[in-house]
Amino acid sequence: MCSDQQTPAELAGHPGRLQWNARYERGFAASFVPHPLAVWALAIGPPDGPVLDLACGPSGSALLAAEAGRPVTAVDVSDVALGLLGAQARSRGLSGLITLIQADLLTWRPPRGKYSLVLCTGYWDRAVFAAGTAAVAAGGLLGWEAFTEAARQARPGLCPQWCLGAGEPAALLPAGFELISQDDVTDGERGTRRRMLATRMQAGAEARPRTAGGDMRGAAGAGMPRPDPPS
Ligand SMILES: C[S@@+](CC[C@H](N)C(=O)[O-])C[C@H]1O[C@@H](n2cnc3c(N)ncnc32)[C@H](O)[C@@H]1O
Repeated sequence: MCSDQQTPAELAGHPGRLQWNARYERGFAASFVPHPLAVWALAIGPPDGPVLDLACGPSGSALLAAEAGRPVTAVDVSDVALGLLGAQARSRGLSGLITLIQADLLTWRPPRGKYSLVLCTGYWDRAVFAAGTAAVAAGGLLGWEAFTEAARQARPGLCPQWCLGAGEPAALLPAGFELISQDDVTDGERGTRRRMLATRMQAGAEARPRTAGGDMRGAAGAGMPRPDPPS
């Protein structure tokens, strides 16, 4: 499934594709280290089922999920990123488990309720977040990480619309989701990022009260083991 594909004509001049292709081509060495959020989410053990990695880049998270035997759909506008991921998947014998989709997330929409884990790290858009939440299956997990507005102090070039506002993304979770954790990760040079993990409750499950910080860790009756979040 990791075929080297032609860039669709409508994406040829896409500014995001051109920008990220240039970045990935310019002496970029992909580490393929999975994101800590992916490691945590997979350790919690979402129900059996496929994983969706949005704005995947050359994703170690997609590889980790495939190594765990899960089918993965990895979406990015950059064909260079997808090429790097595809080559790495082939070298690990994981091609059959990873579907690469070159698409603009601002227009591409995933199937609703299909994925046991939806992951997006290093990208933010409210409409894409809404589509990501809709793609989570009952009992599944949603993991998201993006820069906060505070990151613009360290990185003045960051556009405001790429940054999470107060309480986001947890504040935007629709009914039926339960917040597991939302924490800020501060890295002086890179800027503050916010990391969130949430679950879509099974039909009929009741929401449990949040702790003072809005954090569900340690609350009883979750039904899933909850390893500590990554630091
Ligand atoms: C900061 S990188 C994050 C990559 C990876 N998720 C990670 O955590 O390392 C942002 C990624 O978003 C992709 N991207 C940017 N705009 C996009 C869009 N409109 N549609 C799809 N992917 C996009 C870029 O190509 C890039 O791979």
